[in-house]
Amino acid sequence: ATGAVLDRRGRSMRDLRISVTDRCNFRCVYCMPREVFGDDYAFLPRRELLSFEEILRVARLFVARGVRKIRITGGEPLLRKHLENLIEMLARLDGVEVTLTTNGVLLPKMARRLRDAGLNRVTVSLDALDDALFRRMNDADYPVGKVLEGIAAASDAGLGPIKINMVVKRGTNDGDIEAMAAHFRHSGHILRFIEFMDVGASNGWKMDEVLPSREVVARIDRLHPLEPVSPNYSGEVAQRWRYKDGAGEIGVISSVTQAFCSSCTRIRLSTEGKLYTCLFAQHGHDLRGLLRANADDAQLDARLDAAIAQVWLQREDRYSEIRTAETAALRKIEMSYIGG
Ligand code: GTP
Ligand code: 5AD
Ligand code: SF4
Ligand code: SF4
Repeated sequence: ATGAVLDRRGRSMRDLRISVTDRCNFRCVYCMPREVFGDDYAFLPRRELLSFEEILRVARLFVARGVRKIRITGGEPLLRKHLENLIEMLARLDGVEVTLTTNGVLLPKMARRLRDAGLNRVTVSLDALDDALFRRMNDADYPVGKVLEGIAAASDAGLGPIKINMVVKRGTNDGDIEAMAAHFRHSGHILRFIEFMDVGASNGWKMDEVLPSREVVARIDRLHPLEPVSPNYSGEVAQRWRYKDGAGEIGVISSVTQAFCSSCTRIRLSTEGKLYTCLFAQHGHDLRGLLRANADDAQLDARLDAAIAQVWLQREDRYSEIRTAETAALRKIEMSYIGG
């Protein structure tokens, strides 16, 4: 029996985030620090990755269970070969929006192809406007100009309005908040500030490096007055603000200072086919074993669907509501593995 399922806290399953690679061309200090993700780091070998056909098979079952938005993530998803083929397969599913989160540097090459394949929108990560600071943050010497070119290419290809994600680390890039805001005013794009989170177990998270969103809003408001805007849909992660002078809107994602677990409708599928019911999970539920078992199509679908429904029915996660210094030190899955 298919149909919507509610978890133990009464939340429905609406958003599926699919990670298509655990590799990235960046080494952002808060995500893939070089000390951990060095030259000898063992990324997943090819046979471990779900194929596009396998991804489509499970995505279809998720859609039958109520998913309305699919977001492709990584690592850096544009590093996955022929990604446009997967986009095209997913975009054909009825009633779903297909989006993607990227660091942007491959967009000049790929934006048009992605759009033609049916991608609806993109979100681009950009943590600083100052070139030297940006290079330090991505730790792979990519200039900020490359990302700005990527944003422009996506916009030209019709993938806008584009959301720009800036992770704010107090003492690292908070000095660039005002410059970022100024840059994206009047652009039609939506800049969003994300509180630095204790994802994974290797980014050295400390509470005193979190700059609360209310301070971000206050700093911008001082220069360009802001007013709140109501959410686009219930369960929206970002709180919206708009410039009173009509220059556009910004968003803040406050998962540390104002948890939004009570409306969390997200489920995540890892590159190797494990399901995670929370960004801060320590364990996943393997679907790949089921996908690759020897059985006919109908049997496979029935088993996969039962597993998906069961995982959601038992879901209790509300990590951001119960975060402490102790939980921050737990061995959680890495952001580069599950894609945010
Ligand atoms: P749109 O509104 O469609 O653009 O989607 P979205 O707001 O979910 O955007 P996106 O997926 O880009 O989320 C932005 C960022 O918020 C993510 O990359 C994460 O850093 C953070 N985030 C998203 N979902 C969660 C979540 O479930 N828990 C926590 N703690 N953080 C999240
Ligand atoms: N805290 C907050 N946001 C993070 N991201 C990656 N790691 C962290 C973290 N520790 C962001 C990326 C990207 C999105 C997928 O999540 O910059 O925009
Ligand atoms: Fe940076 Fe995103 Fe790559 Fe992580 S996955 S290192 S946040 S670009
Ligand atoms: Fe959802 Fe977990 Fe994030 Fe809470 S911490 S909003 S349950 S993913």
